[in-house]
Amino acid sequence: MQVIEADVIIVGAGGAGLRTAIAVAEADPKLSIALLSKVYPMRSHTCAAEGGAAGVIKSNDNLEYHFHDTVSGGDWLTDQDAVDLFVNEIPKELLRMEHWGCPWSRETSGNVAVRPFGGMKIMRTWFAADKTGFHMLHTLFQTSIKYPSVKRFDEYYTVDLLTDDGACYGCTAIEMRTGQMRQFRGKAIVICSGGAGKIFPFTTNGAVKTGDGMAMAYRAGVPLKDMEFVQYHPTGLPGSGILLTEACRGEGGYLLNKDGYRYLQDYGLGPETPTPVLKAMELGPRDQLSQAFWHEQKKGRTIPTKWGDVVHLDLRHLGEKKIDERLPLIRELSAKYVDSDPVTTLVPVRPVVHYMMGGIHTDIHAATPLNGLYAAGECACVSINGANRLGSNSLGELLVFGARAGRGAAEYAKKGLTAPSERLDALAADSEARVKAWFQRTQATDRVPDLKKRLTTAMEDGCGIYRDEATIKAACDIIVDVRERFKNVALEDKSSVYNTDLYQTLEMDAMIEVAQTVAVSALERRESRGAHQRLDHVKRDDEAFLKHSMAHYNPNGEPRIDYLDVVITKSKPAERVYGARAGGQSAA
Ligand code: FUM
Repeated sequence: MQVIEADVIIVGAGGAGLRTAIAVAEADPKLSIALLSKVYPMRSHTCAAEGGAAGVIKSNDNLEYHFHDTVSGGDWLTDQDAVDLFVNEIPKELLRMEHWGCPWSRETSGNVAVRPFGGMKIMRTWFAADKTGFHMLHTLFQTSIKYPSVKRFDEYYTVDLLTDDGACYGCTAIEMRTGQMRQFRGKAIVICSGGAGKIFPFTTNGAVKTGDGMAMAYRAGVPLKDMEFVQYHPTGLPGSGILLTEACRGEGGYLLNKDGYRYLQDYGLGPETPTPVLKAMELGPRDQLSQAFWHEQKKGRTIPTKWGDVVHLDLRHLGEKKIDERLPLIRELSAKYVDSDPVTTLVPVRPVVHYMMGGIHTDIHAATPLNGLYAAGECACVSINGANRLGSNSLGELLVFGARAGRGAAEYAKKGLTAPSERLDALAADSEARVKAWFQRTQATDRVPDLKKRLTTAMEDGCGIYRDEATIKAACDIIVDVRERFKNVALEDKSSVYNTDLYQTLEMDAMIEVAQTVAVSALERRESRGAHQRLDHVKRDDEAFLKHSMAHYNPNGEPRIDYLDVVITKSKPAERVYGARAGGQSAA
């Protein structure tokens, strides 16, 4: 097997991976960097982020406000030391993006514009119309190519980490064009492979988000933290799941039920107050908005359509000029996918799985417990999002913690630690044998697409917006069954060039691992907090559960769950309050 050596290996070339690569290159130009991705960087899911990135810049705002909005938004499951440094570092990161050429939208004065976003009680979300992720990804990509030390391996599917004696020394990856496996040896490895929304049937996430990196770290012994917290974004397009950004509501859009009524006022999110401070209603946090949809549906106040029940997003009062300036992509998507022009027509929307708050356990330096292994972006849990991420904190997170991961990995790589090459060769050979075994199977009694459907449906039914013991247990049982039946899958395509059958099978393997950590962690958390709402344990229980859940890999069965204390520095757990009831908590 060909061996490729680099000082730092980065798995994933979306926003987090690119930011990491730039940070390593800037920390020490002599360090060689291998940047691996199963898709071309421009096809990474960062591209689909629309609404913006939050960071304090205006004089009516301050870091404490951003801190408190983030901590209460996360229902106090956030680590406050991580949030503190996040809110401090993100304005500098956003300015750096400006200097690298990111075309932030402007006020008429020429200053960077900000818009309101859900759960943020001050306007602080920087944006580039409604294509913020697209522009950020391009900016990072363009910047990365000026560093000769960054060598890209586009369309390489990473399979396993190479670990020995509590440390990570590389990974195996298949060059998808040839089907050849390569051994990548590195002194530090950073996983930036994104989330796992594809374990649910209806998601804003692109097809690539199958939790590969999470599963890889988990199998290597790194716990997955807070996996039960899965974010439903309140406004996805029915049918496709395509995101209609929260910026629609930030710019003033309404959510209406079948009676044309702004129903969020019935769910503790009103009355709204004028921007720039404390506005709620449609700009409440995502968990509460998605839960309100669920209640409206139960009350028969949603609208049945061929795609299932929806509510209406009303942008008509914003006018064509503003929609075209601030929300051009939304207009295009609505027209193309649901035949509604928001300038004149109500747009059907419904909650859709959007983001995993949980992920690979890291400290504030993006380091995992496995020496030499780092993680950043959605695949990681540092944790600044707690039980519910605020919209526009994730683009910031990938910058701040991508940069931290890069600096940390660069420093670590300079120690030059490595394992004996025979040991790494043996690990790589095992990894290759695992992949080859898929080609050797001949008798298939199950097919990946069928199992995927069964798994994703079980996740939606069992671990959706509201869950209880019975629904979660049913999901757990189905996952065990799917795992068993997955052993009976055989590849239909035995070729080596771009064998999508193989990659979908490997992705399915990862999806089963990640889904199981979500379901089992959800079962064990017998309380309701943020995005984890239990119909059988309706209250938040700080005494028992103000803790991070840690799912540990168990090769013989379901994950073992234990708990880790949450870092509380200055904000004691309290009730989450939005709208005018918030009473000036972060008013200017
Ligand atoms: O609604 C949005 O534009 C999504 C933003 C986010 O998830 O941060």
